[in-house]
Amino acid sequence: MKLLNLNISFEQYTGIGELGEQDQSLCKKAEQALESSYSPYSKFRVGTAIRLASGETILGSNQENLAYPSGLCAERVALFSIGSNQPNAIIESMAITAQTDNFNITKPITSCGGCLQVMAEFERKQATPIEVIFYCLNGEILKVPSVKSLLPFSFVEDRLER
Ligand code: THU
Repeated sequence: MKLLNLNISFEQYTGIGELGEQDQSLCKKAEQALESSYSPYSKFRVGTAIRLASGETILGSNQENLAYPSGLCAERVALFSIGSNQPNAIIESMAITAQTDNFNITKPITSCGGCLQVMAEFERKQATPIEVIFYCLNGEILKVPSVKSLLPFSFVEDRLER
């Protein structure tokens, strides 16, 4: 038996003012994406903004449904929209934020496992890292240099791709 360790490096910022200009702008767009959230059941709005290498920004928000499992997270709404409308686009960075009227969010929310798996496949497909910024509107911000840092053991089975 061998015991192995994985280390994850990530950046922590105390507020949006500490980020570079491009990241600040992406976070502001994620905040803007909250407006289209359809979340009457959880009352928890999630917004994401994805910056493409072309300079274009794609927004996404969580879309819920009365048949609860039919809803979709903000990250996957935005990613699948890119996959279906611009399948060859290269993603540089994505910012994610959340808001609710029910309590004060003081820490950044981090993406669910299902979204991480989808993010991991987009990253693998384009073969360049996707930066991820978890932006808390009133608190700290976390930034990772690639999805691999968040999901080092994502499901990969090359034989299924043939
Ligand atoms: N949600 C997201 O949009 N992204 C995540 O990574 C986790 C959760 C949404 C799903 C649901 O509409 C609401 O947040 C509460 O779970």
